[in-house]
Amino acid sequence: MKRPVFVANWKMNLGPTEARAFMKKFLAKYKQHPDRTVVIVPPAVSLTTVVASLGRRKDIIIGVQNIHADAKGAFTGETAAAMARDAGARLALVGHSERRHVFGETDEETAVKCARAFESGLTPLLCVGETLKQRDSGDAASTVLRQLRSGLSRLKDAQPKGILVAYEPVWAIGTGRTATPADAAAMHGALRAELSVLTGSRKDAAAIPILYGGSVTAENSRGLLDAENVEGLLVGGASLDAGKWNAIVST
Ligand code: PGA
Repeated sequence: MKRPVFVANWKMNLGPTEARAFMKKFLAKYKQHPDRTVVIVPPAVSLTTVVASLGRRKDIIIGVQNIHADAKGAFTGETAAAMARDAGARLALVGHSERRHVFGETDEETAVKCARAFESGLTPLLCVGETLKQRDSGDAASTVLRQLRSGLSRLKDAQPKGILVAYEPVWAIGTGRTATPADAAAMHGALRAELSVLTGSRKDAAAIPILYGGSVTAENSRGLLDAENVEGLLVGGASLDAGKWNAIVST
């Protein structure tokens, strides 16, 4: 995947009609950037609409916000990884902080979901991040590294080197409060070191994009991307506006 990687997480916003309008507006102004990767992650009901709006273009990847840990079955309201793949998704967010903290998703579930994503042909984007309480009590790095180790714990063979990671401090998501580039660089450095241990190779670890997320805007995107080991951005609120999203992916 070309770096930097820009991921728009629309969360529970933009149903099919609004998604179609967004894509029209965004693509009208979007200049293809061969040196980076752009990913759009709509809600599941808008997946096929967004895929259709891309037509034949292959320069934008579509992702799904959540998959169920099981392959299929009696799980009313859930989305199976294989179904998301069939609808056109190529990437799956796993362990987003809202899944962990609003829906009670555990480290073990994120581990199963990462494995399930690979099995179904989706690239997992594993999200990790500490709460303000964990940061204030000095547990930020241990929390984030534990989430990373768990997320990768069920992967086989070369799979760990095929993932993407996003560091999203919970206290920075949707709050307007961003980690400083120095905060991001410190945590990304720790994640990179742990990835070297987990993959057994510094080279493989270096090839895994580590994204930053949490109140990213067109104004702060440059500073964050300039920070060491920050190879992309995971954007919520500011990705809902086609103009702002265009500005961010053009950083
Ligand atoms: P935010 O969300 O940009 O609105 O803070 C980021 C995310 O949750 O992925």
